[in-house]
Amino acid sequence: MFTLAHLSDPHLGPLPRVALNQLMSKRILGYINWHSNRQRVHRPEVVKDLIDNVHAAAPDHIAVTGDLVNLALPEEITAARAWLDKLGDPEHVTVIPGNHDAYVPGALTQTRYHWRPYMMGDSDAGVSFPFVRDRGLVAIVGVNSAKATAPFRATGHLSQRQLGELRDRLRTLGEAKKFRVVLLHHPPAPQFVLKSARLVEADEFLEVIRDEGAELVLHGHMHSGSLVYVEGKHGEVPVVGVPSASNPPGNTHPAAAFNLYRISGRQGAFRCHMTSVGYTEANTPARLIADKQLLG
Ligand SMILES: [Fe+2]
Ligand SMILES: [Fe+2]
Repeated sequence: MFTLAHLSDPHLGPLPRVALNQLMSKRILGYINWHSNRQRVHRPEVVKDLIDNVHAAAPDHIAVTGDLVNLALPEEITAARAWLDKLGDPEHVTVIPGNHDAYVPGALTQTRYHWRPYMMGDSDAGVSFPFVRDRGLVAIVGVNSAKATAPFRATGHLSQRQLGELRDRLRTLGEAKKFRVVLLHHPPAPQFVLKSARLVEADEFLEVIRDEGAELVLHGHMHSGSLVYVEGKHGEVPVVGVPSASNPPGNTHPAAAFNLYRISGRQGAFRCHMTSVGYTEANTPARLIADKQLLG
C-alpha cells in the first residue's frame, strides 16, 4: 500500500512589499486583484491548518500541483521554498509549477532554481520536464504546463518535445508495471474551463494518455474539486483536481481540501481509493468530505 496526498494552488501570502518597477508588467493586474479580492480568498492560516491535517494522515508522498505563489516576485519564490521545506523533504514531496509560478517572463527560471530539489527526476542533474520519480509501486511523472502569458490570460502549454518525452516515459514505466501518477497544473480533460485559462494542447496530452496509459492524473488550477475519467491504454484513467489549499469556506470557490490516495495491487488489477479532507463551515475543523474507489 502506498499513500499519496495531493494539494494544490496554495497561493501563499501575504504579498511581500512590491517595488514600483516590479509592477511594470502583468504584475500590476495581479497586484490589484490580490488587494481587492485574493488576499481574502487565500489565507495563510487555512494552508497551515490543512497541512497539519496532511501531516496527520502520514502519507508516503505529497504532490503539489502548482500556483504556490501569486505574482512570482523573488521574495515570494524564496518564501515558497521555505514553506516547502516545512511541508516535507524533497524525497517525499514533489512539486510542479503553475501559471502563477511563471507569472512574468523569467519567473519560471527562478522557481526552477529555488524549488529544484522538489522538481528533479531521480537521475536528473537539473530540472527537466517531464521528470520521473520512482517510488516503488508508484512512479510520479512531473509535467510542466506553466508559461508566462499575456495579461488576462492563464493558458497552459505543452511543447512537442515535452509531449514526446512524456509518451516515452509513460511507455517505459508501463512496461515496468508501475502505477503511473502524472502531475500537471492545468486540467487536461474536457470540463468547464475558460478559454483564456485552458490547456492549449489538451487534445495532444489526452492522445498520449490514450496511447500509453496512466493510472492517475492530478491537476490544480480550477480551485475546485473535480473527477472525470479519460480513455487510457489499460482502461479508464481518473483525472482529479482539488480546491485551492488556502481558500476558507464562504467564498465563490469550494473551500480548501486535499485528497489522499491509497494505492495497491498490480498492473491490470490496480486499486486506488480516494478520500478528500477539507472544510465545509467557518471555524470548524477539516473533515472527511468524499470517499470513493477510483480504480479496482
Ligand atoms: Fe491557482
Ligand atoms: Fe493556475
